[in-house]
Amino acid sequence: MNISGENIRMSAAANRSRESVVASLMAKALAKPGILSLAAGFTDNTVLPATLVREAVRNIPENASALQYGSNQGRPALRRSLAEKLRALDGAKIATVDAAGIVMTNGSQQSLYLLAQVLCDEGDIVFVEAPTYFVVFDVLSGLGIEAMSLPMDARGQVDPELLRELLCRLRGEGRLNRVKMAYFITYYSNPGGVSMESGVKRELGKVFSEIAPWVVAVEDTAYRELYFSSPHPAQSILALPEWKGLPVALTGSFSKCFSPGIRLGYFATNVPKIVEKSLNIKAQQDFGSANLSQWIAEYAFASGKFDTLVAGLRMHYAGKARALSDELAFGGLRKTGWKWNDPDGGLLMWLRGPEGLNTGADGDFCRECIDREVLYVPGAICYADPESAPKGNVRLSFGTLPAKDLREGARRFCAAAKACK
Ligand SMILES: Cc1ncc(COP(=O)(O)O)c(C=O)c1O
Repeated sequence: MNISGENIRMSAAANRSRESVVASLMAKALAKPGILSLAAGFTDNTVLPATLVREAVRNIPENASALQYGSNQGRPALRRSLAEKLRALDGAKIATVDAAGIVMTNGSQQSLYLLAQVLCDEGDIVFVEAPTYFVVFDVLSGLGIEAMSLPMDARGQVDPELLRELLCRLRGEGRLNRVKMAYFITYYSNPGGVSMESGVKRELGKVFSEIAPWVVAVEDTAYRELYFSSPHPAQSILALPEWKGLPVALTGSFSKCFSPGIRLGYFATNVPKIVEKSLNIKAQQDFGSANLSQWIAEYAFASGKFDTLVAGLRMHYAGKARALSDELAFGGLRKTGWKWNDPDGGLLMWLRGPEGLNTGADGDFCRECIDREVLYVPGAICYADPESAPKGNVRLSFGTLPAKDLREGARRFCAAAKACK
């Protein structure tokens, strides 16, 4: 029999925590079978690598070492493969980071949490893009850290000159030394679908180097390999000369290009002290991410089958992005004042509603969508300050549903848009 627990005194961290938006979106989608969720960021079950995972498990080394505890930092061969992959993605002649600078984590989510824990104290400031991956707000607020929006231009790029002004203003207010981290999602971002241009990355490096060289750039590359026609040309921040000598941590994930269920991600950094301190904290939590998951990823790389898998995923998701976008256009959504760009990678579409529309959970549009059994992510939750955020944006995911359901979801969405015109 449960007890109410009212007389238990919870910690400050427990009291700061809120129900995660992503958990409740996922729960809604799973609870009502008829509802079509364009909200939850799942991938597509039909392209999960079940055969490859079975093969990897069948090939576990004779001594069963992959079923034993592993190391806190992660399997060395896997980290070497990742270092090699980063070098190849950046077209760099020499490695931008080596296996010693890589830490395997429980999804890239744990990387974000560890980095925030290692770098920030309560009351510190982390810069985030506007919009950004809304789950990062849970990470930051859970640790008592302030998320502060970066100035963005109309194309969704961070504006380096306005960032310079923001840093100078914070210096004037005596708060500059509270800024510890800047979080960028640089390829096919969640939610905006924007990739950061090389020129912007370079300018940002110059600004930080001049004004706040201690700020750690956390470059989230969760969707980098999921491009639809060709890879985005910008090198990672780690590889750019303007960032040489500045602290950088790149996070990566096996969720989008392999399987979210193996819960595997990593970060790669040019700062050994970040590795050391993160490992100390990781040891307090789990002393190493699942060795079996890491073996599976290691096998996928060593067998050469990871690349084949990802090549297939690119085509698959490109087709689904097209299906969703085409159906929205066909349903007349643009005629009702909605605007969007076709994504060129990732799993998400970002739409701007007509002037004056409120897409928030308390608005008529959201109610119309729920009545018609289609779910989306209200754009305002992707901003550090939802109160001052633009109210008319929407994030749609084409990751999970089959193309036929995406089209039906799009038709329902268009019907709701017409009803709210
Ligand atoms: C931009 C971004 N970063 C990080 C994550 C966390 O992914 P995971 O912990 O599954 O690696 C997600 C998940 O959707 C994401 O969209």
